[in-house]
Parts: sequence; C-alpha cells; structure tokens
Amino acid sequence: MEIRDVTEDDLDAVLDCRTRAFGQLSGDDVKSWRAIVTPLLAEGRYLGVFDGTRLTGAGRINKYVQWWHGRPISMGGIAGVTVAPEDRGRGVGRTLMRGLLGRCADLGHAVSVLYPATTPLYRSLGWEHAGARHRVTLPTEALRSLLRDRSAPGVAVRRITPGDAPEIGKVLERVYGATRASGPLAWEERLIRHWLEDDSEYGYLADDGYLVYRWDRGDLDVDNLVAGSEATARALWSLVGSSSSVARSVTATVEPDDPLLWLLRERKDDHISVTRWMFRVVDLPAAIAARGYPGPVTAETVVEVDDPERPANSGTWLLSASGGTGAATRVPAPPEGHATPRLTANGLSALFAGVPISTLRRTGLLAGGTPQTDETLAALFAAKPYLIDYF
Ligand SMILES: CC(C)(COP(=O)(O)OP(=O)(O)OC[C@H]1O[C@@H](n2cnc3c(N)ncnc32)[C@H](O)[C@@H]1OP(=O)(O)O)[C@@H](O)C(=O)NCCC(=O)NCCS
Repeated sequence: MEIRDVTEDDLDAVLDCRTRAFGQLSGDDVKSWRAIVTPLLAEGRYLGVFDGTRLTGAGRINKYVQWWHGRPISMGGIAGVTVAPEDRGRGVGRTLMRGLLGRCADLGHAVSVLYPATTPLYRSLGWEHAGARHRVTLPTEALRSLLRDRSAPGVAVRRITPGDAPEIGKVLERVYGATRASGPLAWEERLIRHWLEDDSEYGYLADDGYLVYRWDRGDLDVDNLVAGSEATARALWSLVGSSSSVARSVTATVEPDDPLLWLLRERKDDHISVTRWMFRVVDLPAAIAARGYPGPVTAETVVEVDDPERPANSGTWLLSASGGTGAATRVPAPPEGHATPRLTANGLSALFAGVPISTLRRTGLLAGGTPQTDETLAALFAAKPYLIDYF
C-alpha cells in the first residue's frame, strides 16, 4: 500500500471510487466537482492510497478559515474520504486518514474538521465530536411578518453577483469577529464565486449580512443567512418570507442560538435537524495561540496531553490567556502524583471546541486535575460551536 498525491491522471479513478461510495453524480455535478478539486491537486490537498497503480482510496483537504471565539484559524476540512468497496476493512481508510492528518500539519492547518459518515475511524485518530450544523424548518409566513412595512426606510439590500465573493469574506470577518463566533468557516474566494455562479442560487447582500437561498421542490432552502444586526436579520429573513404565497415552508441553516429563533413572534417546538461534525487540534501551540478567549478571563493551568498520532502535541503545557489571547508553553513534567489535568488527543480537541468539562470528565477524555483546574479550563474554552456550511 502506497500513499501519494493524486494527479490529474488519477481523477477518473477518484471519481469512480467516489461514485461507488456516494452514488452517481449528474453530468453538471461531475463538471463542478472537477472544477472544484483540480486546483487542489497542485497544492498537495488530494491524497490517494494505491495498490500498485490501482487507486484503492482517496480523500482531500479543503482550505478553510474557521472562527474560534471570534478569531480566524487556518483549518483543513477533510472531505471526499472514500475507499473502493472491494478494499474496505483492510486498513486503507486508516492509512489515508493518517496521511491526511500529517498533510494538514504540513499545509499549516492548526485545526481540522470533518463531517463523519461513521465515527470510530476518525475518533481513533484524534478527531472528536465537537459541533453541529442546525437546520430549522419554519412556515414561510412566520418570516414574512418579521418586517411589516417593506416601504419604510430600512436596511439597503441588493442582489449578489459572483463579483461579490470578496465582500462576503469581509462580511464574515466583521460579523464572526463581533459575535465571537465559534465554529463557522469561510471558503476560499474562488469557491464562493463558484457557488454564486450557480444560477439556481439567489443571493442578497447588506452591509453587515447576506442571504443565499434556492428553491427546493416548491419550498425554500436557505443555505446561508448571516446578519450582524437585528435590522439586517429582519430585512433578510422577511425577504425570504415574502415568498409565503408560493412556498409553504422554509428550511434554513441557523446558529444553535440564532437570533431568528428569538425574533419569531411565536416559538414553541423547534423543528431542527442536527448534523454533527468532528474536530481535531492538529498543531497545539499554533491552535491555542490563534484562538480567541473571553476578554475578561485571565487564567492559566498546566495540562498533560497524550497525542500518539501527533507526538509534537504530547507533553506538559502551560495554557494561559489574558485580554482575549492565549498561549501554550512547554513546561517540565509535573512531579509524580501531582494533580495535573490529563487529556487524550480527543480530549484536547473536545476541550478546545467547548465540550463541557463535565462531559469530558464522564467520558474519560479528561482525567486528573482538581475542581479549580476544571473551572479554569471551562472559563477559557467555553464555546457552543456551529457550522452553517456542509462540505
Ligand atoms: C468509511 C471508510 C472510508 C472506511 O475505510 P476502510 O478502509 O474500510 O477502513 P479501515 O479498514 O482502515 O478501518 C478503520 C476503522 O474504521 C472502522 N470502520 C470502517 N468502516 C466502518 C463502518 N462503515 N462503520 C463503522 N466502522 C467502520 C473499522 O472497523 C476500523 O476500526 P477498528 O480498527 O477499530 O476495527 C470506507 O468504508 C468507505 O469508503 N465507506 C463509504 C464512504 C464513506 O462512508 N466515507 C466516509 C465519509 S466521512
């Protein structure tokens, strides 16, 4: 078994592996897939596992920025992981994922995210369940009434064009920074443009927000709606709601505590479907230094990390933060019997992503330490991470 970069000559074999795993793509989808993945090849972002010249599995690393407490971090999004059906159950998937993890580090991604079709493979290599993508379904009429008088002077909203891709990036920076968002990502500009070129997507842009939606069998599907203020949220959601005479319901990707859910006039049962994603710290000191922390918290604690897949993360670290920024500094191992918190690779990843300490403790992801170190870690890493994009 050999692992190496996928080249353009391998793409037919990758596509064959992909369709055997996930089903047929339409002609247009194949074209779109090739357009999206081809530029990744030269960047070393697509790896294949080969048996001689035969491709047995492949996976890629998308280049993202992910916000953690309002600060952007370089993130490798693992996607398209597939092993040929006849080669499954023989270690190809694990070899591939090890290769992709190492490549994430080589590419300078401090953290990594993936949407798992199955958990054990990824968990065994240090990715852990962290956040989710929430999709709410609402009556369209409930959105229409969020802005009663469309003729009143309000938020200026205009149609998006593919040329607005850089502006979308800037809106995300402003809104995710200001809201201290944890979890959401930004695509490369070329991919935002590619998305906006799809003429089944309709988009609108405001100064501090944007909306992209499409029709889905007579109802509406909101891919993205980001709004930095109440006025923009009302303007964009009510624009979607203005279709209530035609579309009965809207399914929309939202934050777990999306302001929309508080703006609705009526709220009783939420109809929300949740898709989980897994997260991994790839480069501990880089990830800790890049993340944001609550500004008023000044705290530090020593932790021991055991990360056999990324030995550079293993060891004893002083984690500290003040004024909203943090650092991880290597320190000597504590004396035998000292009550230092001990984290597995999965525990470190889950802690970073704000999984409650009480959950980490009761799942063996965190051991040792004291109630005080628990409080410190909880204060530093508190987060309720989400993603609005699927990849
Ligand atoms: C999931 C997939 C990539 C795994 O590849 P593979 O080569 O069979 O995996 P490996 O042989 O390296 O097995 C690695 C571990 O994953 C586990 N595993 C593999 N397939 C699994 C499945 N379908 N469900 C649960 N666990 C699975 C194995 O049991 C093994 O764990 P173990 O060592 O504790 O027994 C492969 O089955 C596949 O391509 N499936 C279809 C597409 C897919 O689901 N891709 C993942 C998208 S996120």
